[in-house]
Amino acid sequence: MAQIEMRNVQKFFGTNQVLKDLNLTIEDGEFVVMLGQSGGGKTTALRAIAGLETVTDGKILIDGQEVQDRKAADRDIAFVFQSFSLYPHMTVRENIAFPLRAVRMDAAERDRAIKEVAETLQIAQHLDRKPSALSGGDMQRVAIGRALVRRPQALLMDEPLGVLDAKLRDQMRAEIKRLHIARGSTSVYVTHDQIEAMSLADRIVILHDGVLQQVGAPDEVYLNPINLFVAKFVGSPIMNIADVEISGSNVVLKGASDGFAFDEGLLAGLHKSGSGVSLGIRPEAVLMTHEKTAGYTQAATTNIEPLGSHDIVDVQLGETTLRARTQSGFVKGEGAQVWVNLDPSQAHFFDKKTELNLRGTT
Ligand SMILES: Nc1ncnc2c1ncn2[C@@H]1O[C@H](COP(=O)(O)OP(=O)(O)OP(=O)(O)O)[C@@H](O)[C@H]1O
Ligand SMILES: [Mg+2]
Repeated sequence: MAQIEMRNVQKFFGTNQVLKDLNLTIEDGEFVVMLGQSGGGKTTALRAIAGLETVTDGKILIDGQEVQDRKAADRDIAFVFQSFSLYPHMTVRENIAFPLRAVRMDAAERDRAIKEVAETLQIAQHLDRKPSALSGGDMQRVAIGRALVRRPQALLMDEPLGVLDAKLRDQMRAEIKRLHIARGSTSVYVTHDQIEAMSLADRIVILHDGVLQQVGAPDEVYLNPINLFVAKFVGSPIMNIADVEISGSNVVLKGASDGFAFDEGLLAGLHKSGSGVSLGIRPEAVLMTHEKTAGYTQAATTNIEPLGSHDIVDVQLGETTLRARTQSGFVKGEGAQVWVNLDPSQAHFFDKKTELNLRGTT
């Protein structure tokens, strides 16, 4: 198993810089998920680690050894692609055995290695079939088995569940996690699915336009997003972002008559931002009651989205629509009058110009 380090990694395709001074250390045995929008540089970063792509500048180290000039085959890193990329003319057994060609192993040992991954991935019954006879989930299990059979130093996965349907994704996600724990392998997993990221990762790395935005445990990234991009990218439904005026200890949504009382100390530093601030508040931090309550502001509901386990209720406050998470059936109809408050401990303020989260920096 291995520690992987990227130091000041730059990657240009022609004049297009797609990795911008990437610095990241992935610890031995860690499960890191790279999350970001399309074109953010996730695949390029992963391919650079594996040696499938050269870097323009900077270093890649595996267990402290510089490998940026080594070929992929000399890095002992396995890669699982989004498309299954199995050899169609080979059986499942031959597909899994393929990476072992270059490894000196006697036949019995080879059979044992194949049997072990096949059993772990529950595909032992398919070993003599061709990939075309398998379901999508089983094909991806074979692809993962082929990556694992050599017991690589690290396993890199690029949206390995991207083509599977939702139910199978859930199941495979759990299996990948189990496999990671059982093998203790260093794993780097790319996705743009934040549920996958939250549920699999020890740490999430958020990449946007080739720039690393934030690295942190899933709850850290969720609770303390470093900037507006991360705040909006992580969480579903997305964080409410609203224009506000701050006067004294009062936070007033644009066009609203009443404000929300905050601790003055919390707001004090925000005035230093000359460019103004936006409020960020997640739907679960928008509080709602039916009765008039001190500190709450009256508002009308404009839309209700019942989701089974809970509802998402839109309320109108001045020019702002806030989305609130409520118990199922809490609000019966649109146009209902409710009382709304914000949980100040879960409120964020973003500088409008730098887009940085000002909480904790004031
Ligand atoms: N071989 C290549 N030649 C030229 N440009 C490339 C090449 N590969 C990637 N790019 C460009 O690099 C940028 C980052 O691409 P990359 O595939 O790493 O993004 P990504 O985050 O994996 O996106 P996605 O979520 O769509 O897979 C994009 O602008 C892409 O067009
Ligand atoms: Mg990609």
